Amino acid sequence: MTPFHVQKPVPVPLILDVDTGVDDACALLLAALHPQVDLRAVTCVGGNTNVDQVVRNTMTVLDVAGRADVPVARGAARPLLEPSSDARHVHGDDGMADLGWPSSDRHPDGRHAVELLRDLLCAAAEGGPDDRITLVPLAPLTNIALLLRTYPEAAAGLREIVFMGGAAHIGNATASAEFNVWHDPEAAAIVLESAAELDIPVVMYGLDVFYDVRVSRRGAKKLIAVGGRGPAELAGRLIDFQCSRFGQPDATIGDAGAVCVAIDRAGVTTSILPVRVELAGIYSRGRTVVDRRAWSGDLSHDAFVPAPTTVRVALSVDGERYADLWWRTVNVASR
Ligand code: RIB
Ligand code: CA
Repeated sequence: MTPFHVQKPVPVPLILDVDTGVDDACALLLAALHPQVDLRAVTCVGGNTNVDQVVRNTMTVLDVAGRADVPVARGAARPLLEPSSDARHVHGDDGMADLGWPSSDRHPDGRHAVELLRDLLCAAAEGGPDDRITLVPLAPLTNIALLLRTYPEAAAGLREIVFMGGAAHIGNATASAEFNVWHDPEAAAIVLESAAELDIPVVMYGLDVFYDVRVSRRGAKKLIAVGGRGPAELAGRLIDFQCSRFGQPDATIGDAGAVCVAIDRAGVTTSILPVRVELAGIYSRGRTVVDRRAWSGDLSHDAFVPAPTTVRVALSVDGERYADLWWRTVNVASR
């Protein structure tokens, strides 16, 4: 019984947009199991693998976590302009470590992802501040761009957007660009522009912190040993797959770090910085151009200032804090 003077914090309403993938699955387990998260829905988009496989992988993970109550909707199959591509070389042929675990016998929500997002966000807008939803895109931003361009009124139901994407300093899909933004640069540019127009607070959880939240293979083996094809075993096998694929003694929890930001903001250090997406570059298309110049100088020569959008860019993270948060949450035999 909680003494009357100690009020338990209200769980944070979250919606994840995913291209489940190994690290999206790590994020889904955290969001599905953490007591401080009120997981309202998961929307799917093509990215790491094709969108239908993303839906299957997502529903498998939610079933393993005992969260068949969470609606899942299929969204965009391809980027707005770019041709489709995938990241099976990173995530396996099925996009989720080729574990071969059983597919769900459930069906996704009959609505398109954009319609489900609109319905949930417009309903949240009718409530009070505690009802506002944190949207956590962990994939190419195609669904989110379509939502904000088609139903801008849905922004009234948003608390903030915490997205995994971009980087201030490095790339992974190319030397210059991070995969989620590189996969659909126009969508990323539209989301940033809409965020400025619609006054949506945005946190960018990019590659500058993405690789710093790591779990050891030894820790993964402990999770696998729980067995029973429950959340712990699945989480352990996802980390073990990455360790094996990259020949490393540990692996990043990737997208799950962005969910950690939504749960425990004190674990990340951010700076509010102007951010643009490069759309025209040959070698730099899809780069997030993060302006870190000290503004004391005279920038009147620069035709591109001020950038229309400023974003809370994650520049450092307490990797151990978030890795421990993830490991403790997923280390359950079943829900
Ligand atoms: O660049 C990392 C991002 O690309 C992650 O979201 C990963 O799942 C892939 O989608
Ligand atoms: Ca992802």
